Amino acid sequence: MKFVVTAGPTREPIDPVRFLSNRSSGKMGYAIAEAALEEGHDVTLISGPVKLVPPPRAKLVSVITSDEMHDAVHQAIRDCHVLVMCAAVSDYKPARVAKDKIKKSDQSFSLDLIPARDILKSLPLSRNFFVVGFAAETNEMEEHARAKLATKNCDMIVANDVSDPMIGMGSDENAVTIFSQNGEMEKIARASKKFIARALVKKICVNAKKVLTKNF
Ligand code: CTP
Repeated sequence: MKFVVTAGPTREPIDPVRFLSNRSSGKMGYAIAEAALEEGHDVTLISGPVKLVPPPRAKLVSVITSDEMHDAVHQAIRDCHVLVMCAAVSDYKPARVAKDKIKKSDQSFSLDLIPARDILKSLPLSRNFFVVGFAAETNEMEEHARAKLATKNCDMIVANDVSDPMIGMGSDENAVTIFSQNGEMEKIARASKKFIARALVKKICVNAKKVLTKNF
């Protein structure tokens, strides 16, 4: 199968020297790309700025901003079977990017932010590829994850608790709960991101094959 995996954070520029971003390390997305390659799949890895070495056999597309990631995803899904949106895409971006460095003053300062494009919500409703979203939650994980499954145009949501420092962003371990459109819920207990990624790729393939009508 042809996998498209997004990973890492995006950066939204404020001025030539500053940006808005988040703590995503990219480790989970890179582990999923690696696990899919191990299983013999083709992988396009669309990565925000991270300090990781990409798997050599993946086709790497490096992006910085949410707009660049949006465009790269839309390009890659023209020919794919599975899209895994593991990236921590910015929800907001500055309304304007200052051309010159913003100078400090003694006054309080506020930034005008506008919503960034929601990549999952921008996907076509009628499609022939399987979409896996992630849900990064700090509270009421099940409720929020189910809401995302209903509203974010995904076939499957992988939820993780990012408030726990042992399994949160940047950690080498994770613990996830998978929510599927048929109401099924499956937990994968705390393990290395490599282990979790292998289990996820297996589950994604089984479910994708049930939904997709094209040949692999
Ligand atoms: N996502 C996206 N485009 C965005 C933001 C998020 O496609 N602009 C995707 C992520 O890649 C992930 C899913 O949406 O697969 C859920 O991301 P998450 O940060 O958990 O939730 P949000 O939709 O951003 O909602 P909230 O921050 O309110 O939890």
